[in-house]
Amino acid sequence: MELVNRPRRLRGSESIRRLCRETRLSPESLIYPIFVDETLSGKRPIPSLAGQYHYGLDCVNEAVEACLAHGVGRCILFGLPREKDPLGSSAWAEQGVVQEAVQAIKAAYPDFYVITDVCLCEYTDHGHCGALRGCEVDNDATVELIARTALSHARAGADMVAPSDMMDGRVGAIRRALDENGFESVPILAYSAKYASAFYGPFRAAAGSAPAFGDRRGYQMDPHNRREALKECALDVEEGADILMVKPALPYLDVIRAVADRFDRPLCAYQVSGEYAMIQAAAAAGLIDGHRVMCESAVSIFRAGANLLITYFAKELADAMRKGEIG
Ligand code: PBG
Repeated sequence: MELVNRPRRLRGSESIRRLCRETRLSPESLIYPIFVDETLSGKRPIPSLAGQYHYGLDCVNEAVEACLAHGVGRCILFGLPREKDPLGSSAWAEQGVVQEAVQAIKAAYPDFYVITDVCLCEYTDHGHCGALRGCEVDNDATVELIARTALSHARAGADMVAPSDMMDGRVGAIRRALDENGFESVPILAYSAKYASAFYGPFRAAAGSAPAFGDRRGYQMDPHNRREALKECALDVEEGADILMVKPALPYLDVIRAVADRFDRPLCAYQVSGEYAMIQAAAAAGLIDGHRVMCESAVSIFRAGANLLITYFAKELADAMRKGEIG
């Protein structure tokens, strides 16, 4: 056999490498998380998430304008209410913080796509994602409250609802509540494979939603399990989920790949607060090139099979895509 000196990678220039890329990224696939605080006027930096802000209802549209300036057209909203109680009743209040924020955004920017996170942990005084019976979350009682919350978000004008509570049966209950009230066209983005993760730490500090006792392992998934994620996704598909989600993202790329291969639904990944904070902290300490690590992480998540990505880096990533640094 004749030995020829064959280059192992594509011959030629950067141009052909771009031509043959297997993974394509677009700002259209990005969703930016926005935190709205009912007690705030103006905006305030979030200490646990360098570069991110809490917005008051009076300036939530500043966050939207910043997104639009970077070519990001979609957000997911999280609310910090004035009042908390055992059931989390301000989650479904007509004048609740998320409901008001959706209305304010839609009044000014009707085409900006607004997804709402549907959960009770920011609204309960004990910080768990639902109503308690003793020290445990009462699944069925919670599902009813979650459906009520999702419906109130749709009534306020949300384009899509994203239940993140991980209660059994919540996707079906939300679908029924939406359909019965004329919101057949509002899709459900289901946090289907949401792991009980230490990577949510900075978010809980930002949202004031750390559980007052215990942890979320009773309803979130065990990081040791992958097949269980497929089971959760199958149930959510059966109940009517339009888009599936795996969360966190980078530590769970195998789960993203498995879900992408198995289900014919769009797949969203959530690059969570701890993933963001680690990159920011390591970059600030001069240990890594934060911009390149951000880019490479996003590429990896899409390469693993995600079609859309929720990330605190959405605006910076959109810029990197536009400049041709990735995508
Ligand atoms: C609400 C919710 C959480 C996150 C999104 N929705 C926190 C949690 O489950 O404790 C985490 C997002 C992040 O870490 O960026 N249940």
